[in-house]
Amino acid sequence: MTPVTLITGASAGIGGELARVFAAHGHALVLVARREDRLNALADEIAALGRPRPAVLALDLERRDAVAVLAADLSARGLEPDFVINNAGFGLSGAADVLDRNEQLGMIDLNVRALTELSLGFVDSLARHRGGILNVASIAAFLPGPGMAVYYASKAFVLSFSEALHQEMSGRGIRVTALCPGTVLTEFQARSGMELPGIAKLFEIPAARVAEIGYDALMRGQRVAIAGLGNKIAVALMHFVPNALLLRVVDNRKRN
Ligand SMILES: NC(=O)c1ccc[n+]([C@@H]2O[C@H](COP(=O)([O-])OP(=O)(O)OC[C@H]3O[C@@H](n4cnc5c(N)ncnc54)[C@H](OP(=O)(O)O)[C@@H]3O)[C@@H](O)[C@H]2O)c1
Repeated sequence: MTPVTLITGASAGIGGELARVFAAHGHALVLVARREDRLNALADEIAALGRPRPAVLALDLERRDAVAVLAADLSARGLEPDFVINNAGFGLSGAADVLDRNEQLGMIDLNVRALTELSLGFVDSLARHRGGILNVASIAAFLPGPGMAVYYASKAFVLSFSEALHQEMSGRGIRVTALCPGTVLTEFQARSGMELPGIAKLFEIPAARVAEIGYDALMRGQRVAIAGLGNKIAVALMHFVPNALLLRVVDNRKRN
């Protein structure tokens, strides 16, 4: 079986940049998302630079059978993951009791369920290739988020789960890193229906830089990578602010 780096959510934003960074470092890739035309355009772009053309799989990862379909597809192509990059995810902005219930549950299916299944589904091949898992969390993982309650909670899961896996899998030679970006201008904002507060724009980091930070952290075997000095300071300060105050500051329902 040929080793490949599996990247979810590669059709846009941070995932597309992660694909470019991994390809530039010589990784063979499998790109997964729903929009096949976008994945093929990125695969063509990478091939045009003289790299092997990534394999492309159009798949809705909210589907219950998605990881089984993905595993069968890889196996039919004679591929097995050395690295799994769980990047696909979305948020929804608004009060949890007002937002569409099924969309919020779909967010959990993608941000939590698929990420968990993909993290656990290829452990033997990750160990064989001494590879790893990069799970894209967020600085939202460090606090509750009124106005995006399910999203923040999903990222808290990603951070907690990834840190625990980092410890559990170190004995098998598998690196596990949680990447925590702050504001990155991508399709994320439009998809989640959020309006960025001015302060968030101050800490904005380009997706390409976030991808480099994630790549370097994973290769170094770092447990958690918070992208950017401003975000590192913000997360450190959160420990000193009482939750009651933090919740009022974060609450973005006012801006809807
Ligand atoms: N942008 C930010 O400010 C920010 C900050 C912190 C963390 N993050 C996290 O970073 C990750 C990437 O976000 P981004 O900013 O790059 O957002 P984005 O530009 O909206 O990209 C999201 C990616 O996920 C894919 N995706 C969405 N739903 C999917 C599904 N059901 N099945 C398969 N793929 C799906 C999308 O592809 P298709 O639509 O083609 O399926 C797209 O490739 C997410 O986990 C997000 O939570 C983002």
